[in-house]
Amino acid sequence: MRVAVAGGTGVVGRHVVTALQQAGHEPVVLSRSRGVDLTGGPAAVDAVAKTLAGCAAVVDVASVETLSGSVSKRFFRSVTQTLLTAERSAGVPHHVALSIIGAAEAPAAYYAGKALQEQLVEESGTGWSILRATQFHEFAAQLAGRGKPGRLRIVPAMTSQPVAAAEVGAALAGIAVGEPRGRAGDIAGPRVEDMPTLVRRYLAAIGDGGRVLAVPLPGRWGRALRDGTLLAGPAARLGTQTFDAWLTEVERVPSAE
Ligand SMILES: NC(=O)c1ccc[n+]([C@@H]2O[C@H](COP(=O)([O-])OP(=O)(O)OC[C@H]3O[C@@H](n4cnc5c(N)ncnc54)[C@H](OP(=O)(O)O)[C@@H]3O)[C@@H](O)[C@H]2O)c1
Repeated sequence: MRVAVAGGTGVVGRHVVTALQQAGHEPVVLSRSRGVDLTGGPAAVDAVAKTLAGCAAVVDVASVETLSGSVSKRFFRSVTQTLLTAERSAGVPHHVALSIIGAAEAPAAYYAGKALQEQLVEESGTGWSILRATQFHEFAAQLAGRGKPGRLRIVPAMTSQPVAAAEVGAALAGIAVGEPRGRAGDIAGPRVEDMPTLVRRYLAAIGDGGRVLAVPLPGRWGRALRDGTLLAGPAARLGTQTFDAWLTEVERVPSAE
Protein backbone atom coordinates (compact mmCIF):
# COMPACT_ATOMS: atom_id res chain seq x y z
CA MET A 1 0.00 0.00 0.00
CA ARG A 2 1.32 3.48 -0.88
CA VAL A 3 1.09 5.84 2.15
CA ALA A 4 2.27 9.46 2.26
CA VAL A 5 3.97 10.68 5.45
CA ALA A 6 3.95 14.48 5.81
CA GLY A 7 6.87 15.21 8.11
CA GLY A 8 8.37 11.79 7.45
CA THR A 9 11.88 13.03 8.26
CA GLY A 10 10.96 14.21 11.79
CA VAL A 11 11.27 12.61 15.23
CA VAL A 12 8.13 10.46 14.92
CA GLY A 13 7.81 10.62 11.13
CA ARG A 14 10.92 8.56 10.47
CA HIS A 15 9.47 5.80 12.69
CA VAL A 16 6.20 5.87 10.71
CA VAL A 17 8.26 5.43 7.52
CA THR A 18 10.27 2.53 9.00
CA ALA A 19 7.16 0.78 10.33
CA LEU A 20 5.43 1.06 6.93
CA GLN A 21 8.52 -0.30 5.14
CA GLN A 22 8.84 -3.18 7.61
CA ALA A 23 5.21 -4.13 6.95
CA GLY A 24 5.88 -4.19 3.18
CA HIS A 25 4.20 -0.87 2.32
CA GLU A 26 5.50 2.01 0.21
CA PRO A 27 5.96 5.24 2.19
CA VAL A 28 6.19 8.56 0.32
CA VAL A 29 7.82 11.34 2.38
CA LEU A 30 6.58 14.95 2.12
CA SER A 31 8.88 17.52 3.75
CA ARG A 32 10.79 20.64 2.75
CA SER A 33 14.06 18.70 2.64
CA ARG A 34 12.38 16.40 0.08
CA GLY A 35 11.22 19.42 -1.95
CA VAL A 36 7.64 19.80 -0.63
CA ASP A 37 6.66 22.88 1.43
CA LEU A 38 3.19 22.23 2.82
CA THR A 39 2.76 25.88 3.86
CA GLY A 40 2.88 27.00 0.22
CA GLY A 41 -0.88 27.67 0.14
CA PRO A 42 -3.12 27.01 -2.91
CA ALA A 43 -0.06 27.20 -5.21
CA ALA A 44 1.36 24.07 -3.56
CA VAL A 45 -1.79 21.96 -3.83
CA ASP A 46 -1.38 20.73 -7.43
CA ALA A 47 2.18 19.51 -6.87
CA VAL A 48 1.19 17.78 -3.60
CA ALA A 49 -1.82 16.14 -5.30
CA LYS A 50 0.46 14.70 -7.99
CA THR A 51 2.73 13.22 -5.31
CA LEU A 52 -0.31 11.71 -3.56
CA ALA A 53 -1.49 9.84 -6.69
CA GLY A 54 -2.25 6.22 -5.77
CA CYS A 55 -1.89 6.75 -1.99
CA ALA A 56 -4.34 4.93 0.28
CA ALA A 57 -3.69 7.31 3.18
CA VAL A 58 -1.80 10.39 4.34
CA VAL A 59 -0.21 10.46 7.81
CA ASP A 60 0.35 14.05 8.93
CA VAL A 61 3.24 14.35 11.40
CA ALA A 62 4.60 17.68 10.16
CA SER A 63 5.41 20.20 12.88
CA VAL A 64 6.72 23.69 13.61
CA GLU A 65 8.90 24.63 16.58
CA THR A 66 7.17 27.55 18.28
CA LEU A 67 5.59 28.70 21.53
CA SER A 68 3.46 31.27 19.68
CA GLY A 69 -0.23 30.39 19.35
CA SER A 70 -0.64 32.43 16.16
CA VAL A 71 2.42 30.89 14.48
CA SER A 72 1.24 27.42 15.46
CA LYS A 73 -2.32 28.05 14.20
CA ARG A 74 -1.02 29.48 10.91
CA PHE A 75 1.24 26.43 10.37
CA PHE A 76 -1.31 23.73 11.22
CA ARG A 77 -4.12 25.50 9.29
CA SER A 78 -1.95 25.81 6.20
CA VAL A 79 -0.52 22.26 6.28
CA THR A 80 -3.90 20.65 7.06
CA GLN A 81 -5.80 22.59 4.38
CA THR A 82 -3.10 21.90 1.76
CA LEU A 83 -3.10 18.17 2.53
CA LEU A 84 -6.90 17.81 2.72
CA THR A 85 -7.42 19.70 -0.57
CA ALA A 86 -4.70 17.71 -2.34
CA GLU A 87 -6.13 14.45 -0.93
CA ARG A 88 -9.59 15.28 -2.33
CA SER A 89 -8.08 16.06 -5.72
CA ALA A 90 -5.98 12.86 -5.76
CA GLY A 91 -8.80 10.66 -4.38
CA VAL A 92 -6.98 9.68 -1.16
CA PRO A 93 -9.65 8.23 1.19
CA HIS A 94 -7.94 8.44 4.61
CA HIS A 95 -6.25 11.30 6.52
CA VAL A 96 -4.42 10.37 9.73
CA ALA A 97 -3.34 13.10 12.15
CA LEU A 98 -1.29 12.89 15.32
CA SER A 99 -2.37 15.21 18.12
CA ILE A 100 -1.42 15.66 21.76
CA ILE A 101 -3.32 14.52 24.85
CA GLY A 102 -4.60 17.68 26.58
CA ALA A 103 -4.05 20.05 23.62
CA ALA A 104 -7.77 20.56 23.01
CA GLU A 105 -8.31 21.13 26.75
CA ALA A 106 -5.56 23.79 26.92
CA PRO A 107 -5.62 25.36 23.43
CA ALA A 108 -2.91 28.00 23.87
CA ALA A 109 0.67 28.48 22.62
CA TYR A 110 1.73 25.50 20.43
CA TYR A 111 -1.41 23.60 21.48
CA ALA A 112 -3.63 26.27 19.87
CA GLY A 113 -2.47 24.94 16.49
CA LYS A 114 -3.02 21.33 17.51
CA ALA A 115 -6.59 22.05 18.68
CA LEU A 116 -7.28 23.81 15.36
CA GLN A 117 -5.76 20.88 13.42
CA GLU A 118 -8.09 18.44 15.21
CA GLN A 119 -11.11 20.62 14.40
CA LEU A 120 -10.19 21.01 10.70
CA VAL A 121 -9.68 17.26 10.30
CA GLU A 122 -12.93 16.37 12.09
CA GLU A 123 -14.92 18.84 9.94
CA SER A 124 -13.20 17.84 6.67
CA GLY A 125 -15.82 15.38 5.45
CA THR A 126 -13.04 13.00 4.41
CA GLY A 127 -12.25 9.68 6.10
CA TRP A 128 -10.09 10.54 9.11
CA SER A 129 -8.35 9.11 12.14
CA ILE A 130 -6.83 11.15 14.98
CA LEU A 131 -4.42 9.53 17.44
CA ARG A 132 -3.49 11.58 20.50
CA ALA A 133 -0.15 10.95 22.19
CA THR A 134 1.71 12.28 25.18
CA GLN A 135 5.15 13.87 24.79
CA PHE A 136 7.81 11.60 23.30
CA HIS A 137 10.92 10.57 25.26
CA GLU A 138 12.69 12.58 22.55
CA PHE A 139 10.84 15.73 23.78
CA ALA A 140 13.43 16.01 26.59
CA ALA A 141 16.12 16.14 23.90
CA GLN A 142 14.10 18.68 21.89
CA LEU A 143 13.86 20.93 25.00
CA ALA A 144 17.58 20.46 25.77
CA GLY A 145 18.46 21.26 22.15
CA ARG A 146 17.05 24.77 22.50
CA GLY A 147 20.13 25.86 24.53
CA LYS A 148 23.86 26.01 23.95
CA PRO A 149 25.89 22.96 25.07
CA GLY A 150 27.08 23.25 28.68
CA ARG A 151 24.82 26.27 29.38
CA LEU A 152 21.72 26.75 31.52
CA ARG A 153 18.49 25.44 29.97
CA ILE A 154 15.16 27.04 30.91
CA VAL A 155 12.52 24.29 30.90
CA PRO A 156 8.80 24.66 31.67
CA ALA A 157 7.61 22.99 34.86
CA MET A 158 5.65 20.10 33.37
CA THR A 159 4.21 16.74 34.37
CA SER A 160 4.25 14.26 31.48
CA GLN A 161 3.83 10.57 30.73
CA PRO A 162 6.36 10.27 27.91
CA VAL A 163 6.16 7.56 25.28
CA ALA A 164 8.71 6.25 22.76
CA ALA A 165 8.31 7.96 19.37
CA ALA A 166 8.99 4.53 17.81
CA GLU A 167 5.88 3.09 19.49
CA VAL A 168 3.75 6.04 18.35
CA GLY A 169 5.14 5.72 14.81
CA ALA A 170 4.25 2.03 14.70
CA ALA A 171 0.72 2.78 15.96
CA LEU A 172 0.23 5.45 13.26
CA ALA A 173 1.44 3.10 10.52
CA GLY A 174 -1.05 0.48 11.70
CA ILE A 175 -3.90 3.01 11.68
CA ALA A 176 -2.95 4.31 8.21
CA VAL A 177 -3.27 0.91 6.50
CA GLY A 178 -6.73 0.28 8.02
CA GLU A 179 -10.15 1.89 7.67
CA PRO A 180 -10.68 5.45 9.01
CA ARG A 181 -11.45 5.25 12.75
CA GLY A 182 -12.32 8.83 13.74
CA ARG A 183 -11.01 9.15 17.28
CA ALA A 184 -8.37 6.43 17.35
CA GLY A 185 -7.79 6.68 21.09
CA ASP A 186 -4.82 7.86 23.12
CA ILE A 187 -1.30 6.48 23.48
CA ALA A 188 1.01 7.26 26.40
CA GLY A 189 4.13 6.00 28.10
CA PRO A 190 4.34 3.63 31.04
CA ARG A 191 5.27 6.20 33.76
CA VAL A 192 4.41 9.70 34.91
CA GLU A 193 7.57 11.83 34.99
CA ASP A 194 8.75 15.35 35.83
CA MET A 195 9.93 16.91 32.54
CA PRO A 196 12.72 19.17 33.90
CA THR A 197 14.17 16.10 35.67
CA LEU A 198 14.11 14.20 32.36
CA VAL A 199 15.94 17.06 30.62
CA ARG A 200 18.58 17.03 33.42
CA ARG A 201 19.03 13.29 33.00
CA TYR A 202 19.21 13.57 29.22
CA LEU A 203 21.94 16.24 29.46
CA ALA A 204 23.92 14.06 31.90
CA ALA A 205 23.54 11.05 29.59
CA ILE A 206 25.00 12.90 26.59
CA GLY A 207 27.83 14.35 28.68
CA ASP A 208 26.55 17.94 28.50
CA GLY A 209 27.29 19.73 31.80
CA GLY A 210 24.42 22.21 31.36
CA ARG A 211 22.06 22.88 34.27
CA VAL A 212 18.28 23.05 34.10
CA LEU A 213 16.04 25.73 35.59
CA ALA A 214 12.39 24.66 35.85
CA VAL A 215 10.08 27.63 35.32
CA PRO A 216 6.34 27.46 36.04
CA LEU A 217 4.71 29.15 33.04
CA PRO A 218 1.87 31.58 33.79
CA GLY A 219 -1.80 31.31 32.87
CA ARG A 220 -4.16 28.47 32.12
CA TRP A 221 -1.74 26.86 29.67
CA GLY A 222 1.12 26.93 32.15
CA ARG A 223 -1.15 25.34 34.77
CA ALA A 224 -2.22 22.65 32.30
CA LEU A 225 1.42 21.67 31.81
CA ARG A 226 1.69 21.01 35.56
CA ASP A 227 -1.71 19.82 36.73
CA GLY A 228 -2.09 16.48 34.93
CA THR A 229 -4.04 17.75 31.89
CA LEU A 230 -1.37 16.18 29.63
CA LEU A 231 -1.54 12.74 31.27
CA ALA A 232 -3.32 9.69 29.86
CA GLY A 233 -6.80 8.69 30.97
CA PRO A 234 -7.65 5.13 31.99
CA ALA A 235 -8.60 4.06 28.44
CA ALA A 236 -5.23 5.00 26.88
CA ARG A 237 -3.00 2.39 25.32
CA LEU A 238 0.33 2.37 27.19
CA GLY A 239 3.67 1.90 25.45
CA THR A 240 6.25 -0.31 27.09
CA GLN A 241 9.58 1.51 26.71
CA THR A 242 10.42 3.64 29.76
CA PHE A 243 12.41 6.87 29.58
CA ASP A 244 15.27 5.04 31.37
CA ALA A 245 15.34 2.34 28.70
CA TRP A 246 15.23 4.94 25.93
CA LEU A 247 18.09 6.85 27.57
CA THR A 248 20.38 3.83 27.31
CA GLU A 249 20.07 4.12 23.50
CA VAL A 250 21.08 7.79 23.45
CA GLU A 251 24.64 8.48 22.33
CA ARG A 252 27.05 10.70 24.24
CA VAL A 253 28.17 13.78 22.33
CA PRO A 254 31.82 13.18 21.30
CA SER A 255 34.18 15.46 23.29
CA ALA A 256 35.66 18.42 21.41
CA GLU A 257 39.30 17.21 21.62
N1 LIG B 1 7.47 15.94 19.98
C1 LIG B 1 6.56 15.44 20.84
O1 LIG B 1 6.85 15.17 22.02
C2 LIG B 1 5.14 15.17 20.33
C3 LIG B 1 4.23 14.50 21.18
C4 LIG B 1 2.93 14.21 20.72
C5 LIG B 1 2.56 14.60 19.43
N2 LIG B 1 3.47 15.27 18.67
C6 LIG B 1 3.05 15.65 17.30
O2 LIG B 1 3.79 14.85 16.40
C7 LIG B 1 3.97 15.56 15.17
C8 LIG B 1 5.44 15.51 14.78
O3 LIG B 1 6.23 16.07 15.82
P1 LIG B 1 7.81 15.85 15.82
O4 LIG B 1 8.31 16.29 17.15
O5 LIG B 1 8.11 14.49 15.30
O6 LIG B 1 8.25 16.94 14.71
P2 LIG B 1 9.70 17.28 14.19
O7 LIG B 1 10.73 16.29 14.63
O8 LIG B 1 9.94 18.74 14.48
O9 LIG B 1 9.55 17.08 12.60
C9 LIG B 1 8.77 17.96 11.86
C10 LIG B 1 8.62 17.41 10.46
O10 LIG B 1 7.80 18.31 9.69
C11 LIG B 1 8.47 18.66 8.49
N3 LIG B 1 8.08 20.01 8.13
C12 LIG B 1 8.23 21.15 8.86
N4 LIG B 1 7.75 22.20 8.19
C13 LIG B 1 7.29 21.73 7.00
C14 LIG B 1 6.70 22.34 5.86
N5 LIG B 1 6.48 23.67 5.80
N6 LIG B 1 6.34 21.56 4.80
C15 LIG B 1 6.59 20.22 4.83
N7 LIG B 1 7.14 19.58 5.89
C16 LIG B 1 7.49 20.34 6.95
C17 LIG B 1 9.97 18.53 8.83
O11 LIG B 1 10.80 18.29 7.72
P3 LIG B 1 11.55 19.52 6.95
O12 LIG B 1 12.26 20.31 8.01
O13 LIG B 1 12.45 18.83 5.98
O14 LIG B 1 10.48 20.29 6.28
C18 LIG B 1 9.94 17.27 9.70
O15 LIG B 1 9.90 16.13 8.88
C19 LIG B 1 3.42 16.97 15.40
O16 LIG B 1 2.10 17.03 14.91
C20 LIG B 1 3.39 17.08 16.92
O17 LIG B 1 2.40 17.98 17.39
C21 LIG B 1 4.74 15.55 19.05
